[in-house]
Amino acid sequence: MTSIIETLDAWYAYRNDLKASNVSIGFVPTMGALHEGHMELIRQARLETECVVVSVFLNPTQFDNPEDFDLYPRTLDEDRILASEAGADVIIAPMKESLYPDGYRYKLTETEFSQQLEGAHRPGHFDGVLTVVLKLFNIVQPERAYLGEKDFQQLRLIEGMVDALFMNVRVVAVPTVRETDGLAKSSRNVLLTVAARSKAPAFYRSLTKAPTTEAARNELISEGFDVEYIEDLEERRLGAVVIDNVRLIDNVAIKDTI
Ligand code: PAJ
Repeated sequence: MTSIIETLDAWYAYRNDLKASNVSIGFVPTMGALHEGHMELIRQARLETECVVVSVFLNPTQFDNPEDFDLYPRTLDEDRILASEAGADVIIAPMKESLYPDGYRYKLTETEFSQQLEGAHRPGHFDGVLTVVLKLFNIVQPERAYLGEKDFQQLRLIEGMVDALFMNVRVVAVPTVRETDGLAKSSRNVLLTVAARSKAPAFYRSLTKAPTTEAARNELISEGFDVEYIEDLEERRLGAVVIDNVRLIDNVAIKDTI
């Protein structure tokens, strides 16, 4: 069974042993409530590195909405079972105080792309994401870090941070894992009512099948979604919608649309 490490000192002791024996570290940062999407990242890390480390940290600084933070599922016991099944060696689940000894006085901001799409609708969100990922990379010191294409803007911003700051880690992008009806797996899916869950696959369908972003937006509005944005950006079509108070994001490669 995957072990759980809850203090930074215990992790540093563990890491020193790994480094002393030249063991490569694959890192999967998460906020917990693990599902098949996270498990795919862990499996990929298992194939490519010798020690697979998963962080479970519900990062308060990336939530612009306190209710969203309060409602976010917390399932560490189940997370441990799923991480173990997928092949993780260790989970680090640090306390908030240990990751923010400065009280979040120091933060990392990307000034352009982070202000668009998700950033335009969730002020400060990517400052929180980039800052915590920077901290976690410094703490874990992995050779490789595994991130999902599900959060495409996050993925691109983390890749940009690694380049801009000359960080010694290789970012590996993992394709989005979906339910059979197309809905992207997400920790928030458990918050969907039965009615909202049955409507939710229309989001992916419209992203892939509508001829234009405008057509996708209109289709989704007529199906009862609140549409925050649907935009084509380079090779992707990205969107965020709200259905019955649950916010969903997704994106597809434009070559996969018809
Ligand atoms: P979280 O939403 O828990 O996601 C952790 C990782 O799992 C991210 O890289 C995300 O893109 C990936 N992921 C989520 N759903 C997926 C799916 N259906 N298929 C493939 N990958 C999927 O993203 C975060 O946490 C946080 O912002 C974090 C990076 C941990 C910083 O706090």
